Amino acid sequence: RLLTVSLLGAAIAAGSAQARDYDTVRIGVDIPYVPMEYRTPSGELAGFDIELGNALCKQAEIQCNWVEQGWDGIIPGLMSRKFDAIMSSMTINDERRQQVLFSDPYLVPPSAWFAPTDTSMKGVESDDLKGRNIGVQRGTVQDNYVTDKFGDVANIQRYASADDVAVDMETGRLDIAFLDYPTGQAALLKDGEYKTLGKMMTEPKKYFGDGFGIAFRQRDKALADKFNQALATLKSNGTYDEIHDKYFNE
Ligand code: ARG
Repeated sequence: RLLTVSLLGAAIAAGSAQARDYDTVRIGVDIPYVPMEYRTPSGELAGFDIELGNALCKQAEIQCNWVEQGWDGIIPGLMSRKFDAIMSSMTINDERRQQVLFSDPYLVPPSAWFAPTDTSMKGVESDDLKGRNIGVQRGTVQDNYVTDKFGDVANIQRYASADDVAVDMETGRLDIAFLDYPTGQAALLKDGEYKTLGKMMTEPKKYFGDGFGIAFRQRDKALADKFNQALATLKSNGTYDEIHDKYFNE
């Protein structure tokens, strides 16, 4: 009898997830991450991910709610059902594919090094970075890359948010920052005090993978497909370009 009850319980739990069929999808996001996700001075969520995400939900006829989540807890938050998707400039790579199911890429930006315009650094080889303070957001692909590549020679400073990286660049505590290009550009390149140093990278693939994707739980293939279809539609009907041009004017 106990067995029957627990089987029934499991069937109801599974069935209700099915029946609900995600009329409401909660999307986890780590802010601020200009120009991708942030709050306006009046407190509204804004940014490329937010607008594209809302447009995708509208196209797919899904009700979406944004749930704020610090970056280091964002995959655990998806797994523990705190939310059902992650749309937070998350880079698609094989390591993460072991844990989550990604949508098709919706943006493919490089990563880049940002340093004060008057830096004495000439490049971003081990010799240049020796003894330097490198700022990254903790748990990002940029963190993983510099940790593996320069962990022995440089002082890697890991911050909870990309905003904190920008703040410590401004206080002079950092010599260089390694960030997704759009975020470094929006946070640091606006007033001529900083420049991009070294090359921007989409390689090595192990870290920088295949662009930004929306992450889902592995079993939510049907939900990922809905978002992929919606993305294809918004790309063909001009909505994607409209949102893109609003945030990236180059
Ligand atoms: N693209 C980088 C990564 O996936 C950093 C993303 C950080 N996103 C954010 N909203 N803070 O590792």
